[in-house]
Amino acid sequence: MGQVNIRCFQSSDFKQVADIMTWSFREKFQRLSSLPMYRMSDFLIKAGVIYSSPFPGYVVAEENNEILGVMVLEWLNQNRPPDEHNLLEASSKYGWWKVIKLLFGLWILTSEPKTGECYIEHIAVKPEVRDRGVGTKLLEFGKELACKNGFEKFSLHVSSSNKKAIKLYEKLGFDILRTERSYLTKCLLGIKEWYHMGQNLTSPNNR
Ligand SMILES: CC(C)(COP(=O)(O)OP(=O)(O)OC[C@H]1O[C@@H](n2cnc3c(N)ncnc32)[C@H](O)[C@@H]1OP(=O)(O)O)[C@@H](O)C(=O)NCCC(=O)NCCS
Repeated sequence: MGQVNIRCFQSSDFKQVADIMTWSFREKFQRLSSLPMYRMSDFLIKAGVIYSSPFPGYVVAEENNEILGVMVLEWLNQNRPPDEHNLLEASSKYGWWKVIKLLFGLWILTSEPKTGECYIEHIAVKPEVRDRGVGTKLLEFGKELACKNGFEKFSLHVSSSNKKAIKLYEKLGFDILRTERSYLTKCLLGIKEWYHMGQNLTSPNNR
């Protein structure tokens, strides 16, 4: 692997980022939309699920002009541009029920960060380059950004069945803070149990 840079998302990265997100979270998106993969990316873009404008905390991993991974960080009072979506077009093309189900399904997964918390809303790496340290680089970058900006906690939610991601987070210093169970996410996404994982950035070990 050559030189992987972590940098802010730019609008020109959008197509590549949309593909990585669509593929990485395909099971979730397919359960919510029942669409085939070849139509999914367009649906998610029209529904405004994948952010198309840059904002602080929206970063990508890049190597030789190729986007390898993406991470979206969230915190209270973050300055984000309004979502760009075209719900009317999405509804007329795919059906309003699919749009409502998708947006509701994703809404129940959202978690409002608390004061002092830098929260990882999404992290995904292109399947072909997984297990080569890209996810680690993104997470290390995120942690540094959170420390520099004075956040006290770096955190995320992960399905308890996502063993690979959990192992990586534990390796990088995240602990399971809480186990949450939801019959609504079980119904809509087939996932009942979630871990809220995090690390305390004020602890001396994390400086
Ligand atoms: C979770 C995810 C982001 C991790 O990204 P990744 O780039 O594969 O992560 P890394 O390569 O840094 O780490 C994965 C493993 O490779 C190992 N690794 C890191 N650098 C390496 C290198 N240079 N050579 C070989 N192995 C390496 C890591 O130690 C880790 O090992 P482990 O599985 O034994 O813990 C990625 O699997 C993904 O996109 N999954 C789908 C979406 C998802 O589940 N997102 C998380 C939602 S909470």
